[in-house]
Amino acid sequence: MGFPNGFLWGGATAANQCEGAYNEGGRGLANVDVIPHGEARWAVMVGERKMLDFEDGYYYPAQQAIDMYHHYKEDIALFAEMGFKTYRLSIGWSRIFPNGDDAEPNEEGLAFYEDLFRECKKHGIEPLVTITHFDCPIHLIKEYGGWRNRRLIDFYKNLVTVLFTRYKGLVRYWLTFNEINMILHLPFMGAGLVFEEGEDREAVEYLAAHNELVASAWATKIAHEIDPDMMVGCMLAAGTCYPYSCKPADVRRAQESNQQNYFFVDVQSRGYYPAYAKKFLERRGIDVGMTAEDEKILAENTVDFISFSYYNTRCAAAEPQEGAETGAGNAFEGVVNPYIEKSEWGWGIDPLGFRITINDLYDRYQKPLFVVENGLGAKDEPNADGSIDDDYRIDFLRRHIEAMRDAITEDGVEMLGYTTWGPIDLVSASTGEMSKRYGFIYVDRDDAGNGTLERRRKKSFGWYKKVIATNGEDL
Ligand code: BG6
Repeated sequence: MGFPNGFLWGGATAANQCEGAYNEGGRGLANVDVIPHGEARWAVMVGERKMLDFEDGYYYPAQQAIDMYHHYKEDIALFAEMGFKTYRLSIGWSRIFPNGDDAEPNEEGLAFYEDLFRECKKHGIEPLVTITHFDCPIHLIKEYGGWRNRRLIDFYKNLVTVLFTRYKGLVRYWLTFNEINMILHLPFMGAGLVFEEGEDREAVEYLAAHNELVASAWATKIAHEIDPDMMVGCMLAAGTCYPYSCKPADVRRAQESNQQNYFFVDVQSRGYYPAYAKKFLERRGIDVGMTAEDEKILAENTVDFISFSYYNTRCAAAEPQEGAETGAGNAFEGVVNPYIEKSEWGWGIDPLGFRITINDLYDRYQKPLFVVENGLGAKDEPNADGSIDDDYRIDFLRRHIEAMRDAITEDGVEMLGYTTWGPIDLVSASTGEMSKRYGFIYVDRDDAGNGTLERRRKKSFGWYKKVIATNGEDL
């Protein structure tokens, strides 16, 4: 007994990390375009350094990325060759509404995604679509301050109404916001937030979070009204936080950290603010502007399934630990777990933690789960003949797929599918590098934007093809 029949194997990408063509097809500028590679990147992503246009002296990797805008047929054919059942991708909001608040959508943008979805269908691949993956039209940031402003709920409602109407019958699975909890870690990326000097950042982040949560519930409602067959999911950057020791204070610290993360999905899945969050907001004096209508929309439109990314677990200690490094991987802070390995970028590698995380989410929500990101960012060194032997990637994925299989077969978790992150090399979200590669398909491009953009199959390509062909039996 292994993976269920119809399990959706595939891969996941995001528009800004692969499409490029930032100024083609009537597309407007978005926050993700103006996040540079290099030292300034972090300050821009967290909303400390205001950069709302291209500035001299910086390289902006999203401008061209891997140019999937012009290569998507070739790329989808490669996914089909691996046997993908699903392909997760995201919509560039500013391709559809260049300014975000336009009265009419941009037909060229709509046609681009329609062609892309049809191309998937031609190969028997089910599209899984993230409505926003870290992107927000720049105009909405300049004019309204990003998601701190409730007006964005209406602009988002316009966006989803157009998408669901146009792609009804073509797209069944939708995710409202990628890693919605990233608002608290990368607020410019997650919600288009740029902070003023002396501003209460946390208050602004929770305000933006509330607006996104309400927008997400509206999207669920609108989807079900337009097509009752549509399945709408939330998306969490997951990874259970472990206590650094069994000292009760450490356990409590880890519990608080987990609650901070679960807060988002608690609202999206249960339909109301959990008691611990209400108390936290009350203590902090934060008013998110909840209206009676918000309360009703949240309660009546909970998600159909829970999707999440998993890269690593985290670790929390009540007090600073002597000799313990901080930093846990991804955008989360934490104490380094001495019992697990680390990737070249210092991200923890914890396959058993994957099973633990899956169980935690299933216990808490009792809804089907969908793993929509998992993978190893690593440097690939092509051999003299150009081939790439990425056994480290195969090893990482094999161990994680085994852990997921155990969660299904031993623990009884209901799981819809699994998409690895970046099945084709793409621009790294946290660093803007190309050299942090996740793909089964190598793309000839470097961190400075040089290269032919040629695509090549790595060793892992054939391995993943076999995994899918045997429905996870042959790992
Ligand atoms: C997730 C994001 O946080 O992690 C992706 O949803 C991102 O956009 C992925 O690319 C991997 O992170 P990174 O920084 O290695 O690209």
